[in-house]
Amino acid sequence: MHLDLPILDQAAPSVAAQPVAENGKKVYVETYGCQMNVNDSEIVLGVLNAEGYIPADGPDDADVILLNTCAIRDNAERKIHERLSHLKHTKKSNSDLVVGVLGCMAERLRTKLLDTQLVDLVVGPDEYRRVPELVAEAMGGDRGIAVKLSRVETYDDIVPLRTEGISAWISIMRGCDKFCTFCVVPFTRGRERSRPLTSVVDEAKQLWDQGFKEITLLGQNVNSYRDDVAGYDFADLLASTARAVPNMRIRYTTSHPQDMSDKLIDTMAEWDNICKYIHLPVQSGSNRILELMNRTYTVEHYLGRIRRIKQAMPTCAMSTDIIAGFCTETEDDHQRTLDVMREVRYEGAYMFAYSPRENTKAWKMGDDVPDDVKNRRLNEIIALQNSISREINLAEAQSGIIHPVLVEGPSKRNDAEWKGRTDTNKTVIFTHDGTRGYIVGDTVQVKIDRANSATLFGELV
Ligand code: 5AD
Ligand code: SF4
Repeated sequence: MHLDLPILDQAAPSVAAQPVAENGKKVYVETYGCQMNVNDSEIVLGVLNAEGYIPADGPDDADVILLNTCAIRDNAERKIHERLSHLKHTKKSNSDLVVGVLGCMAERLRTKLLDTQLVDLVVGPDEYRRVPELVAEAMGGDRGIAVKLSRVETYDDIVPLRTEGISAWISIMRGCDKFCTFCVVPFTRGRERSRPLTSVVDEAKQLWDQGFKEITLLGQNVNSYRDDVAGYDFADLLASTARAVPNMRIRYTTSHPQDMSDKLIDTMAEWDNICKYIHLPVQSGSNRILELMNRTYTVEHYLGRIRRIKQAMPTCAMSTDIIAGFCTETEDDHQRTLDVMREVRYEGAYMFAYSPRENTKAWKMGDDVPDDVKNRRLNEIIALQNSISREINLAEAQSGIIHPVLVEGPSKRNDAEWKGRTDTNKTVIFTHDGTRGYIVGDTVQVKIDRANSATLFGELV
């Protein structure tokens, strides 16, 4: 089945298409949190660049430092407060320095951040077009805030300023309507809205023309993507993109188990250039906890989706997010989470201790699992995941599996070893003797002969 979807040849209009003269001011954007933030920082740099600002090499070199922040857990915010108190010293020795807070923490704390005297501008995720205006005002001595959330902003006409060479992020939607009871994102990023299919496909084509070899389609919940005007869903978008850039590796993240449709699974199976890797957060293995979390699926539904995925793509790698110690979680609930992990055998997982967030529904449920219990459960989850990842990787080494690997360049430790990533999103280190003629961005075949829980090692075939 090939969907007949429109692919415009016309480039999307771009803010950076007519750059103005450089204004001599350098900006450094420091990014915290998720991949959406990484792409948002590129969008902010794109907006500023179009107004003449140039990217600084580092914070010491910058006239403007912007922290693009995360509010998902308390420790994410704590890290940013620490960074801000460090910047206070920097500002003492350079009083002209402009400091801004962007992103989810800006949206959550708003004017409270201006109380600190250090911060000159506070800008939420839907107001990045106003960053140049607020930076200019800050340079004139005024402090400013822009934190309105939008129902329509997608920045689809903005060209992100990307600094990385072969892999690019493309945000296809913004916001989240799921309202999981623990999560602050629907409050900090607002309602769900999608970019038109054609604007995403055009961006993918432009990236291929610029030499990018891998794209990741991003959203808080990409499988509820909808181009309502043209009537397309996420599977249609994936298929259109796969067809428009047939030699590009295509990934996506993050998906919600409730919206993991058969159509989406079959589309992934159909296209060789769509990576066989799905990040499908389960959060908990207990139906009682899933209901309290408002996750809107049961463990049985979740496992049914995994079976359907494996039927269509037997080698598809799975990863997940898990929260330990959510409100009222018992030892039995915790054991059920470990059971799901044993059953699915994820290749990887992001694992967190529950962190109560103000204004969420769960905030009112209390935080009744004591810290020592929460941490012990989290450590058990991490230990189990490490041993499963290790077993999966060792089995690959034992069978001498051959992976197509997208070459990223020399490994950190040693020029005689290069690194790259598999379709299934694992890092591979392989021997590089300089005689094989491949370059960064090529795909090579690597036979795996060693492994640990995080990395595969092998030789070119
Ligand atoms: N506490 C702990 N983890 C959280 N996550 C989201 N909100 C919280 C919270 N309040 C985790 C979820 C989500 C991932 C991005 O972060 O697992 O999938
Ligand atoms: Fe948060 Fe749930 Fe939306 Fe993910 S799906 S961003 S966890 S509310």
